Amino acid sequence: MKVIKRLVFGLIQLVVVVLAIGFANAADENSSDTQEVAHIGVAGCAASTCHGSNVGFADSGILRNEFRTWNEQDPHARAFKTLLTDESKRIARNLGLASAESADICLDCHADNVAEEFRGEEFQISDGVGCEVCHGGAGNYLESHTDASHADNLKAGLYPSEDPHARAQLCVSCHVGGADERKITHRIMGAGHPRLSFELNTFTSIQPAHYRVDADYSERKGNISELQVWAVGQIVAAEQGLKNIKAFPRAGLFPEFVHMDCLGCHQEMSKVTWSQNPLTQLEPGALRYNDSHLMMSYQIALAAAPEIAPQLFSNIKEFLNKGASMKDPSSLIGRLDASLNALRNTLTKTPIETSQGLVILGALVDVGLASSHRDYVAAEQSAMAINSVLRVMDLEADLSSARAQALRGTEDIFDSVRDSEQYKPAKFLNGLRKVKAVLAR
Ligand code: HEC
Ligand code: HEC
Ligand code: HEC
Ligand code: HEC
Repeated sequence: MKVIKRLVFGLIQLVVVVLAIGFANAADENSSDTQEVAHIGVAGCAASTCHGSNVGFADSGILRNEFRTWNEQDPHARAFKTLLTDESKRIARNLGLASAESADICLDCHADNVAEEFRGEEFQISDGVGCEVCHGGAGNYLESHTDASHADNLKAGLYPSEDPHARAQLCVSCHVGGADERKITHRIMGAGHPRLSFELNTFTSIQPAHYRVDADYSERKGNISELQVWAVGQIVAAEQGLKNIKAFPRAGLFPEFVHMDCLGCHQEMSKVTWSQNPLTQLEPGALRYNDSHLMMSYQIALAAAPEIAPQLFSNIKEFLNKGASMKDPSSLIGRLDASLNALRNTLTKTPIETSQGLVILGALVDVGLASSHRDYVAAEQSAMAINSVLRVMDLEADLSSARAQALRGTEDIFDSVRDSEQYKPAKFLNGLRKVKAVLAR
């Protein structure tokens, strides 16, 4: 996984990001109907006096060189071009598509695939995942947004991407996949699409930043803690997983494999390594749902909303153990969804704090050691969680620099999860032991 490859580097290059906590802007109403507005196209944003400057403006609230950062460094700018590669040609051929670059099932995630009538004069589908995919169609805010307040811009259709919940919904719609649009299926995977995995804060930190979080930014948009971004991202990804499993047809007798843990099936039979996971207590041979975001949500609940944790956990266990064999699992899914919603609402009211992050870090280490982290997806999410928590710890200087230094020495963790097919649990556990030793000091 490419993100993991950059993690170690990311840890060393800690970008200073704002920290204070207290962002509590509920985002329930902003789902993704920013599509029904004219999209002017990247060129419309990229004029040199607008977002297309060559250098950042020191005296400007915003950098104004956003286009350049996106165009030169951001993988989203290449997302359409990816559809022209041999790899994509093969996927398209396997799926019986005329071409990847003309197929909605590819364009929905690899470009700004709004309906023809919403495409402005400068709009180009080949721009890939352009500005308006994330910031909303500019048709209604283009003229006013340089003078208006942020609140007024939001009313005119600017998407609130600074808000953790809204941002999570946005990124998850492509990086986990959606229930109605932007669907990802095992059929697409089977044709050769790379496995998707996601963690909001790690992905936010790895996307080349075309913005600067400073005092001026905080004044306009509030203070957003990375830990809160991480936690809300986990819960929203878990919620999206449930939406998807409800929405996708079960393909007759069989479940849609894309919701499951890929490595649960794709492994060598000669390697019998099964032992019961003490948390999920799944039986040998059981079909494994990709429970990584659910399990992280549980850890978040334990630390930040202990009153919700027991119910959430019993709902998760019921879902994992009984879901597959139930005729109609919808009430079970409904109960689990309600616990996740309750957890998210609690965090919206009372954002997670650094001390709770430290508790989660300790718990992740203990759970990892106890379950021997046989599951790759769980290990991978732990690695990204540890990355996110450490970033915040470092930034808030809650750990002395010596401890932070030692924590950074846990490259073993990242090394071991770099390649899902070469996952080395022993190395991962070794890394966890090192973190534990440092935390115990
Ligand atoms: C419209 C779909 C879409 C949305 C919305 C979206 N992404 Fe992406 N993202 C992609 C695609 C497609 C790629 C792969 C691009 C390529 O290499 O062709 C990608 C790649 C990335 C990568 C690089 C991954 C890697 O393995 O190197 C990061 C990081 C990332 N996105 C972060 C984000 C974040 C953070 C958000 C939300 C603010 C977001 N994305 C929203 C579609 C999307
Ligand atoms: C649900 C959204 C979604 C759909 C649908 C989708 N992709 Fe992707 N695709 C992504 C994301 C997100 C990534 C980046 C994954 C990562 O690195 O984490 C990606 C990565 C890729 C890559 C690897 C790019 C690289 O830089 O290595 C190829 C190739 C690709 N997609 C082709 C396709 C084709 C062809 C289709 C249509 C059949 C398609 N995708 C449909 C979201 C999607
Ligand atoms: C994959 C999603 C994504 C894409 C594509 C994207 N942005 Fe952003 N943008 C973000 C996120 C996330 C932030 C930070 C949160 C926020 O302030 O909204 C941001 C912030 C900004 C800001 C606010 C800076 C501030 O100080 O308030 C501007 C301006 C901006 N982007 C312009 C652009 C332009 C212009 C493009 C296209 C060239 C673009 N963005 C493409 C996700 C994206
Ligand atoms: C329940 C079991 C199961 C799960 C879970 C599962 N797969 Fe599969 N996968 C299969 C089967 C069965 C095939 C078809 C093998 C064949 O045609 O020989 C397959 C085929 C594939 C192939 C094509 C392999 C080839 O030999 O050409 C890829 C790639 C793939 N899956 C990726 C994934 C990814 C990524 C995930 C997780 C999102 C996943 N699979 C989850 C059972 C599973």
